[in-house]
Amino acid sequence: VRTQVAIVGAGPAGLVLACVLLRAGISVEIVERQTREAVERRARAGLVEHRVVEYLRAHRLADGLVAHGVRHGWCDFLGLGERLRVDYAARAGGAAHWVYPQQFLVRDLIDALETAGGRPHFARPVTAVHAPAAGRPRLRCPGLVVEADYLVGCDGQHGVTRAALPAAVRDDLSHRYPYDWLTVLAEVDRPVEGVVYAVHERGFAGMMPRTAQLARCYVQIPAEDGAERWPDERVRRELDARLRTAHGGLPHIGRLTDIGVLRMRSTISQRLCHGGVFLAGDAAHLLAPAGAKGMNAAVADAADLADSLVRHYHDGDDAPLAGYSARRLEQVWRVQAFSDWLLGLLNTSTTGAGDVRFDLRLKLEHIRRLAETGPFSTDFAHQYAGAGEL
Ligand code: APR
Repeated sequence: VRTQVAIVGAGPAGLVLACVLLRAGISVEIVERQTREAVERRARAGLVEHRVVEYLRAHRLADGLVAHGVRHGWCDFLGLGERLRVDYAARAGGAAHWVYPQQFLVRDLIDALETAGGRPHFARPVTAVHAPAAGRPRLRCPGLVVEADYLVGCDGQHGVTRAALPAAVRDDLSHRYPYDWLTVLAEVDRPVEGVVYAVHERGFAGMMPRTAQLARCYVQIPAEDGAERWPDERVRRELDARLRTAHGGLPHIGRLTDIGVLRMRSTISQRLCHGGVFLAGDAAHLLAPAGAKGMNAAVADAADLADSLVRHYHDGDDAPLAGYSARRLEQVWRVQAFSDWLLGLLNTSTTGAGDVRFDLRLKLEHIRRLAETGPFSTDFAHQYAGAGEL
């Protein structure tokens, strides 16, 4: 098959790109390893930034999100027995998050793609990507070879596209944090009202709203600890200890499911294109997993690339495509710096010889400033909510 743009991976990045291009009259082939059912079921992050929602809305891709998502404009920090509310929407000119599970957004995007006439290829793992420095790129998967003007790797951190680019071109910069997070889906007796971050001498714990009956919880654990060392009872004990506060008020945690481990690492490629091949989303950068920036950065990449490709095909202007990598990296590093700072605030230092209470007392000082009005909390609010435009 020959097409204008080939896309590997039907996550948020690949699907947003495919929808916008197809509606602009550009031909697209999108190839996904998993079945449609599997991608529509995959539970992932669910905090969508203000600017991402505005972009999706402007492209008529946010109907489900706006109808069924829930707006969130504050978060609570627990620490040293205090509960401090950060009303970030009020500080960011009304910019807030929408809570909408990623798999619902993915389902909506697949529907929109099909309505626009797209025929995504599901259950077709791409086995080879040919990424020449000049000339047309190609991908191969069972029963299909696609040749394209441009090929975009939206196939995540372990995808084949990034692996097909010369390592010297990508020039990855990686970082390993000295702890990991346990991730748990918890049944709750009522919805979690807002994101709760607990800093605690036993380590960080977090609780995030998902649906009326489900919360996503996080528990800081030693680096490289396996999930098998965390039976339900141990997880429950840690959640209780770390989330308990003077004011309480959190929903009761029932059955725990889906206990997994999030390895805390980041990798950012220093160049996101090579010849006619581009990287977007997790394939381009795995960000520090605090503040739910992964999916938002993935959509932001897709938005920039979609706009750049439309300018190429409609106006014959190649400058936007040539600037994609530099433009996105500038934004991505800004987001990474924010997420890295937030991770440092949330997690209890497991290295260093000092008294852990010294570290906690310092954290509380930062949190107090986030909860007060002033330039510090205003800057946090804008970055956290993703105020402004993509
Ligand atoms: N062939 C075809 N598809 C592939 C291949 C392959 N060889 N390898 C991976 N994929 C698919 C995956 O099955 C997945 O559906 O690429 C898709 C990548 O999607 P995501 O992982 O959702 O990545 P992205 O669109 O960049 O969105 C990033 O999703 O991973 C979360 O937390 C992350 O929120 C962030 C967001």
